[in-house]
Order: sequence, then structure tokens, then C-alpha cells
Amino acid sequence: MIKIKSSEITSKEEYLSRRDFLKTAGIVTAGAALLAACGAEEEIPATPATSNLPAEEVATDLTQELTAKESVLNYNNYYEFTTDKERVAKLAEDFVFSPWTVEVSGLVNKPQTFGIEDLLSKFTIEERIYRMRCVEAWSMVIPWNGFTLASLLNEVEPTSDAKFVRFETLADPDQMPGLINKLYPWPYQEGLRLDEAMNDLTLLSTGLYGESLAGQNGAPIRLVVPWKYGFKSIKSIVKIELTAEQPSTFWEGIAPNEYGFYANVNPAVDHPRWSQATERRISELKRRETLYLNGYADEVAHLYEGMDPNNLY
Ligand code: MTE
Repeated sequence: MIKIKSSEITSKEEYLSRRDFLKTAGIVTAGAALLAACGAEEEIPATPATSNLPAEEVATDLTQELTAKESVLNYNNYYEFTTDKERVAKLAEDFVFSPWTVEVSGLVNKPQTFGIEDLLSKFTIEERIYRMRCVEAWSMVIPWNGFTLASLLNEVEPTSDAKFVRFETLADPDQMPGLINKLYPWPYQEGLRLDEAMNDLTLLSTGLYGESLAGQNGAPIRLVVPWKYGFKSIKSIVKIELTAEQPSTFWEGIAPNEYGFYANVNPAVDHPRWSQATERRISELKRRETLYLNGYADEVAHLYEGMDPNNLY
């Protein structure tokens, strides 16, 4: 894992001035219309994937410069608050997440409801620096704090019938103004296959940049699955259920032709409305080539042996 000195982190001023440049250059489009369903912030033609980008403008390396904390805290997707990424932080400012419990139930020998404090004291909190690739074709590098989902699942002992894990976010209309939009099938829910959930990369995050999670990032506990598009990384979890059947998920329920259950990052499979071949790393000018499984193939490609990677969108 590559640690980055704080001196190498892009400052807020530098980030903001680059954004101004991008806006002036017409590179960032508002994309308001596209947000009806999770949409690309930049309009990139679906195919041919990179034809409009000179090769030298696309970075291909795996360098891990951390995304500035200011950007991680102020550029968010959290539809329960708003679909406007730059207003989530403000709207989540007074989000009350204490007391908080996470119910772990379903096909387990020891169902339990954990208080957030129990989880924080029971498991060793570690730092994991992961790339996060949103399906909208932007990405960040984030230093998360948390513990593996496997350590929690081992505690409740899944039975031999358990094949999937289903997650659910709080849906509190008194605190979450976005819930007023009844077109969305609240509560937000997500799912993983049990072996994906047990993989060592799969994290339950309780903090970032060494501080507790802020409301806009999914306080007090959220999932982080770095080889899948960001929408799998469900925020503010209140329920985890082990099931025999593949659970339905929020975005798949809204637009099954656009968002699948697996949602594995794959530059070769375009979203129906835009290319996934490249991405914009927040605060960088050059686009980057998107990497298969977001660069984590060594760790997780074996989970998909015998399956067609192009069907795992
Ligand atoms: N979880 C919930 N409950 N609601 C959401 O709208 N958005 C997802 C994911 N988890 C979302 C969610 C999407 S599309 C992304 S890209 C990431 O959260 C963004 O996480 P961040 O705001 O911490 O960067």
C-alpha cells in the first residue's frame, strides 16, 4: 500500500482553480438532466471508446496521489440528501447518527444488533488507501479507516445456505430531504455475493483521513468495495442480511439495462450512455485509463473465474 506524504496532496486552492479552468474550457458540463438516473458528469461518446482523446493525454499508471480531503468531503453522491454533489455536505451537516445500530440477520447462526460503539471497539480499525471509481467516470484516491466486512460476518457465522449479503441505508424523511422524491425506491439497498463480501479488500468504513466519517460520506458506517463502481459502496448502513437469493439493488431496480448487480469496473464495457474506457481523477487535468477491476485484478479476478467479465456490469 502506497503512503503519500501530506505535502504531496493537492491543496484546495489548486483543486478549485483547476475546476474553474475545466469549467471555462467547457470540459465540465452541469449534467443536471443526466442526473435523473446516476449519470456521467461529462458527456463521453459510448463507442469508439477513446477516439477523441490523444494518447498522450491519458495517464495509464497506478500512482496513488491522495485526493484532497476537501474534495472528498465536498463532492459527494448521496441521493437521500440531494442529487447535487456540491450541496450534499451542506444538507448533511446536521445529520444525527448517534445512537446508531446495525442489525445483522438472516441466514446466520448468531444474529445480532450491534451499537456503533460496539463495532468500533470490537474490531481493529486499519487504514486502507483505495481508488474509488464512480460509474459517472470520475475517480478519487481515499484513505479510509475501517475494518473488514469479513470480520463482522465471521462474528455472526453465516450458515451454509447463505450465498449473498444485502445492505440497507437509513431512510429517515425528517433528516434526509431527498426522500421526498418518490420516484426512487427508498431505502437505498445494495448486495454482494458472499465470497465478494468475505474478500479482504471489502471494507466497512467508519472514517477517512484519520477522522470519523462525515454525514455526507455515509456516517457512521458505510461499505467500500474498491473494484466495483462507487454506487455499490452503500452509505449509513442500518441492516445487513444474509440471503440465499441474489438481492435486488437500488440502481438495478431503477434502470436494469444501465446498472447491474455486479457493477465490476471494466473499461471494455461501456455504460449504454457513455464510455467507461477513461475517467477523470478529481483534481487532475489529464484523463486516466480505467483499469479492469479498478486495478485490483490480482486480488479479486479469481472470484469471477469461468464467468464472462463483459457480463459482470
Ligand atoms: N449510498 C447511499 N445510501 N445513497 C447514495 O446516493 N451513492 C453512491 C455510493 N453510496 C449513494 C450511496 C455513489 S453513486 C457513489 S459514487 C458513492 O456513494 C460516493 O461516495 P462519496 O460521496 O463518499 O465519495
